[in-house]
Amino acid sequence: MTTHDARLRDKCALVTGAARGIGAATAELFHAHGATVYLCDVDDETGTSVAAKLGAGAHYLHLDVTDEAQWTRATTEMADRDHPMSILVNSAGAASKASIMQTSLAELRRMIDLNLVGTFLGLQAAGAAMTTGGSVVNLSSLRGVLATAELGAYGASKFGVRALTRVAALEFAESNIRVNAVCPGSIDTAITAGADFANDDMDAYVKSIPLQRRGLPLEVAKAILFLASDDSSYVTGTDLMIDGGTSAGARTPKRSSP
Ligand SMILES: NC(=O)c1ccc[n+]([C@@H]2O[C@H](COP(=O)([O-])OP(=O)(O)OC[C@H]3O[C@@H](n4cnc5c(N)ncnc54)[C@H](O)[C@@H]3O)[C@@H](O)[C@H]2O)c1
Repeated sequence: MTTHDARLRDKCALVTGAARGIGAATAELFHAHGATVYLCDVDDETGTSVAAKLGAGAHYLHLDVTDEAQWTRATTEMADRDHPMSILVNSAGAASKASIMQTSLAELRRMIDLNLVGTFLGLQAAGAAMTTGGSVVNLSSLRGVLATAELGAYGASKFGVRALTRVAALEFAESNIRVNAVCPGSIDTAITAGADFANDDMDAYVKSIPLQRRGLPLEVAKAILFLASDDSSYVTGTDLMIDGGTSAGARTPKRSSP
């Protein structure tokens, strides 16, 4: 259902990783704000059903973000349907956790390929397709700002996403394409559901977050909506932290009472 405050009317958005998590929440919010949305993922069954639930104006496309030819196919299909891309959200991604000594070269390459090369190919696709301007929002991470032990491969990919975001903002400005990144902290999605994260003490971690809770996918989607829409028309080349205050600094620990 479109909201009365439709901030993306007449826009056509491609959202990667849209079958679940932050990508799905973003696609849903964009659709509610009047955009034509192309939900893209490799999980075709879930992606198709999310798009079907949204109804008219929502389309599912298979797009493996690491495959250059699939990017060309997706943007060509949008243009052929008279929906040229004006917004791109690069949300497809994955995380894995291990020390540098425990990370295989294959795993490092998987992280870089999916999180960084996937974003790079998305930027190239946007640069070619957004002939009348547009907005790109990349998913970096708090871990792409603050180095975190055992997140070397993931962190390297997400620091890289911030670098690419700024370079693209400079290079695409003359084409009226804005490029920004969001840096979420811990958001309640399936990304950390794997065995790598099973031993994390989530209660202790949550206590370390100034707002004392994990974020919700919709809270990230709302920030992405701001950067995707004309509300942020003078914003490009920046990172928006969505981390409950974690990156703001630290508190001095208090002695526990006797
Ligand atoms: N959840 C968090 O705490 C958090 C924090 C910081 C940054 N992020 C970033 O936000 C983005 C979305 O994360 P999420 O939490 O929604 O994750 P998620 O695991 O819930 O969703 C990721 C989606 O990406 C899709 N995907 C995986 N490989 C793909 C590929 N090759 N091509 C296309 N799609 C592919 C998956 O099928 C899935 O639907 C990621 O880039 C992630 O690094 C997440």
